[in-house]
Amino acid sequence: MIFFRLLYGISLSLVVLLTIFGFIHAHANENGVLIRYVGDETCEVCHSSVGIGKQFQKWKRSPHARAYKDLGSPEAMAIARKMNIADPRKDLKCLSCHTTAAGARLPEMISTFRPRDGVQCESCHGPGEDYAHFSVMTDPEKSREAGLISHPDEKTCESCHNPSSPTFRGFDFKKDVVRIAHPLSGR
Ligand code: HEC
Ligand code: HEC
Ligand code: HEC
Ligand code: HEC
Repeated sequence: MIFFRLLYGISLSLVVLLTIFGFIHAHANENGVLIRYVGDETCEVCHSSVGIGKQFQKWKRSPHARAYKDLGSPEAMAIARKMNIADPRKDLKCLSCHTTAAGARLPEMISTFRPRDGVQCESCHGPGEDYAHFSVMTDPEKSREAGLISHPDEKTCESCHNPSSPTFRGFDFKKDVVRIAHPLSGR
């Protein structure tokens, strides 16, 4: 019994440490088990209908969906050259803000997850393995317990929208959140 508690304690602190040091960008549930990223196409299944408010299409047209692709632009290459970075699409110094879960290792992802889809739903709403199911999603309390961040705040945005972005133009939460709005229909 003590052995298992010890093991549990160690694995929990390991997860916390690894997360603090930024080796993994995954969240753990209360049992210390990592919740994996499922990718935007899993959310698309339900969040692309008119009835719900087409969040998927709204996101797809937003700059966040282009974030990885834009790392291949001449502008990105020029920024990278100045910083002695050979390929911005392979370097964590750029991927950390231009993709979801940059640097996460395989066990934290599942096969449907595609880094090239840029700053995806789960960058802001948290990894979806535990909440992206109908019975959970339709119950706000259950979704929260499963790791859903239903209304991401300023701090979430500022993890990327900050002066360490080589092109930082400033950030105004109130205005910028409106520019990426994708409400549930009827709200
Ligand atoms: C099986 C269908 C389904 C999948 C898959 C799904 N959702 Fe949902 N989601 C829903 C439904 C239905 C609602 C509306 C619930 C309601 O009206 O309270 C919802 C609501 C939400 C909300 C608002 C919750 C609130 O309390 O305001 C967010 C945020 C959300 N989903 C994000 C996601 C993300 C991100 C993914 C992918 C990782 C995802 N959903 C996958 C069906 C789904
Ligand atoms: C860049 C961050 C970001 C990304 C990417 C993002 N969201 Fe959101 N989402 C938010 C914020 C912020 C809110 C809350 C807005 C508010 O409070 O007015 C929100 C709200 C929602 C809501 C609830 C809206 C409501 O009316 O309560 C749903 C559903 C949702 N997002 C689904 C998605 C899905 C599905 C994707 C991917 C296709 C996605 N989001 C991508 C930041 C994001
Ligand atoms: C994981 C990193 C990340 C997070 C978190 C994030 N963003 Fe972004 N955001 C980006 C990147 C990268 C771009 C530029 C994408 C491009 O154009 O290639 C961007 C672009 C934008 C733009 C367009 C900026 C412009 O000047 O054209 C808006 C508006 C925006 N984000 C709002 C938000 C809001 C609001 C939040 C929080 C709810 C948020 N973002 C969270 C990475 C992020
Ligand atoms: C700290 C997070 C962060 C890092 C690290 C980062 N970016 Fe960005 N990038 C952003 C955000 C946020 C935007 C939206 C504009 C801004 O900076 O306010 C952006 C916008 C861009 C744009 C403009 C896209 C457009 O056309 O509007 C380019 C190009 C770009 N980044 C290239 C890079 C390259 C190359 C690297 C690596 C050397 C990099 N970024 C590293 C966050 C980041």
